[in-house]
Amino acid sequence: LNRTVFSFVAADVLIRRLSMDEFTELTALLHRAYASLADMGLRYVATYQDEETTRVRCAAGETYVAESEGALCGTITFRPAALTMGTPWYDRPEVASFGQFAVEPTLQGKGIGALLMDVVEARARETGATELALDTAEPAAHLIELYERRGYRFIEHAQWDVTNYRSVIMSKRLLGQ
Ligand SMILES: CC(C)(COP(=O)(O)OP(=O)(O)OC[C@H]1O[C@@H](n2cnc3c(N)ncnc32)[C@H](O)[C@@H]1OP(=O)(O)O)[C@@H](O)C(=O)NCCC(=O)NCCS
Repeated sequence: LNRTVFSFVAADVLIRRLSMDEFTELTALLHRAYASLADMGLRYVATYQDEETTRVRCAAGETYVAESEGALCGTITFRPAALTMGTPWYDRPEVASFGQFAVEPTLQGKGIGALLMDVVEARARETGATELALDTAEPAAHLIELYERRGYRFIEHAQWDVTNYRSVIMSKRLLGQ
């Protein structure tokens, strides 16, 4: 991805790869964004992960960030198929995935999340994956609906030991280039 500036939100938003000196800032952004899910009682890893966990999770893929006015305001981590594993669907060779998906609370609902999903869907196609999957909490109906509107469908349930809820795996078929 080249550094690309999008100007249709209030201030310019730059989408680029994460730099290796930004794990502290990224972890804080994840905590702020996922706080609304923690308030729902959903203990997503991103609600509490420490900086080292952020590093490990970013190392398992490609992390993209949205930057506005010099600060990180969004993020998403793309995991190619070879690094997508742990459930029957994730283990399939044609299935890539994404996670650590967050937008600064004050900037949510302005299309930044959609831009970040555009990036990972394009990356998945480039890597030859034909499915892009994600997991989220079964009780997070608003997120499941968001992903359904975007073309993701229910695949299977999963239970991770690090979360206090049952997860749903959803996936989108990627057609053409
Ligand atoms: C999920 C999240 C990353 C989406 O980013 P965003 O910038 O708010 O998303 P967008 O503005 O591109 O909107 C994407 C969709 O979400 C909807 N949406 C976004 N914010 C919303 C809000 N506050 N209330 C209702 N719907 C909202 C939009 O209507 C849009 O749906 P549409 O494309 O069908 O119209 C962001 O809201 C967030 O950080 N949430 C907390 C963390 C989280 O839930 N992460 C995902 C865990 S699986």
